[in-house]
Amino acid sequence: MHDEALNRWQRGWSASRGWNDWQCVDDVTVVRVGEPQRRVEYVATQQHAAAAAHLALTDCNPAGTSWLLIATDDPARTSAELRPLEYVRTEWLMSISLPHHALRPVPAPYTAEITGSPSLIDVRMYGYGELAAEGRMAVLHTGAVADMVQTQPAHRRRGLASAVMTTLATTAVSHNVSTAHLSASPEGRPLYKSLGWRTVTPLLVARTSLPSSR
Ligand SMILES: CC(C)(COP(=O)(O)OP(=O)(O)OC[C@H]1O[C@@H](n2cnc3c(N)ncnc32)[C@H](O)[C@@H]1OP(=O)(O)O)[C@@H](O)C(=O)NCCC(=O)NCCS
Repeated sequence: MHDEALNRWQRGWSASRGWNDWQCVDDVTVVRVGEPQRRVEYVATQQHAAAAAHLALTDCNPAGTSWLLIATDDPARTSAELRPLEYVRTEWLMSISLPHHALRPVPAPYTAEITGSPSLIDVRMYGYGELAAEGRMAVLHTGAVADMVQTQPAHRRRGLASAVMTTLATTAVSHNVSTAHLSASPEGRPLYKSLGWRTVTPLLVARTSLPSSR
């Protein structure tokens, strides 16, 4: 279940982050992230969670640096089944038909800047002399993926993230992309819902145990 949505999201997410070294092993997508605290990310559906856990528990990475992202209807149960892997958080895979995205204006006195390329769109909102909000969208033939949406704390609840999402969506539509996915934090999820995004599945984020928590 959710294989196609998860695959589409992973491809765009990897492109957005520049994590282009990935491959499928035993129905698990292995993304070589290469960061000190996050060497690798194993992405799988619930059906293949055990295979992902096996890969994480038997690889050669330092403790705490192998991460898993599992699409599951029941993150608590899946997390319990994956012990000794450590629960980190729950996110939500969401999708939208971009022409149905809500259209929210850039609130005054902020201004929007669009940079990047047709395959990687960056939107930044500036105001009061500083960067106030930003977001990115990777555009692939499999669809678009929104990523790294954030508003600086001092500028929140003024409609900036809504305007970032609107700008990303309309720019992607101008490049003939019709669907998009994202992984929502608990904080972002209500916002995306209000813009027309729907939840596909919860995502369990877990990792190998840090030495201190053993
Ligand atoms: C989640 C996040 C991006 C939202 O940014 P934001 O700029 O505050 O978002 P918006 O202002 O567009 O919308 C947030 C809320 O403010 C409300 N709002 C918008 N304009 C408003 C205004 N002028 N006055 C009061 N409330 C307003 C919106 O209706 C929305 O309400 P909801 O959460 O009940 O749907 C921001 O909190 C953040 O950066 N969080 C940390 C990083 C993160 O979690 N990012 C999401 C990753 S998926």
